Order: sequence, then C-alpha cells, then structure tokens
Amino acid sequence: MTTIRFKLNGAEMSIDADPDQTLLSALRETQGLRGTHFGCGAGECGACCVLVGDHAVTSCDTPLWSAADKEITTIEGLGTAERPHPLQRAFIAEQAMQCGYCVPGILISAAALLRQNPSPTETEVRAALDRNLCRCAAQNRMVRAVLRAASELAAS
Ligand code: FES
Ligand code: FES
Repeated sequence: MTTIRFKLNGAEMSIDADPDQTLLSALRETQGLRGTHFGCGAGECGACCVLVGDHAVTSCDTPLWSAADKEITTIEGLGTAERPHPLQRAFIAEQAMQCGYCVPGILISAAALLRQNPSPTETEVRAALDRNLCRCAAQNRMVRAVLRAASELAAS
C-alpha cells in the first residue's frame, strides 16, 4: 500500500492503495465512481476515459501511481443532473445515445477537445472521438451534439 495524493473532481484526495492497480479500478472500487466504465480493459474502446488535466486518458491501462499530483476529472465531475455540462445538455437535445454505455467516455473525450479547441470543425470532432467506440452506432448524433455544445459555449 502506498499513499497517493491527487485532485479528484475538484477535491484534494489521499488514498492508501496498491499503486500498480489501474486508475479505473481505484476510481470504481475505492472511490465508488461507477460512471467511468470498463469495456475492453486494453486501451482500445474509450469507455474508461477520464480527464487528466485537460487530456482524455484511458484509465483501464493507466496505473494509479501515475495519477499522483495530477488533476483527475471523471464523468461525475463534469456536471450534475441539476447543473449539467453543456455537452450533457447537447447530448440530451440531440438524443445522442442509445444504450449509453460508451457515453461517459465520449463526453470526457469531447470535454478534452473543447478545453483544447473550443471551436472545432466537424472533422476535428470526428478525429477527437475516433478512439471512442460506440457499438450502437450513435456517432453521427454525438458529433452533432459536440458541435452544438461548442456553439453554445461560444455564445455564452
Ligand atoms: S476499457 Fe479502457 S479503453 Fe476500453
Ligand atoms: S450508445 Fe450504446 S455503445 Fe454507444
């Protein structure tokens, strides 16, 4: 066991845990943040994406130790039911999901994109979401939703 300190969804965090476990495991099992999903477990599907700083990272193949002193944001930290993030509002408005399993990871990748590039083109949105798989084939609606959120943010 090692004490790992980092910022999680805006709050300073200190946990005693196996530093070699995955960040995904620590978030889901230790912190009870079940919104970050397990898909492939191999860094291939994007279901487990979280923000590390302003970058979307697959937490299933990221060791907990590497999160030390970083700022981690999970889907729970992006917005709430009462105060949804513009991306979450846009996904609802565009009905950009079916089963929803991939959506937390896709929202995180989209949030990373908008932090780095607030006015992306459709091509840039598609590139940013390229490594997030959606088996329900809702990608076109998701791209529309991200562009809608970007427009909303630009107008605010
Ligand atoms: S579960 Fe992490 S990329 Fe698929
Ligand atoms: S909405 Fe079902 S996997 Fe994407």
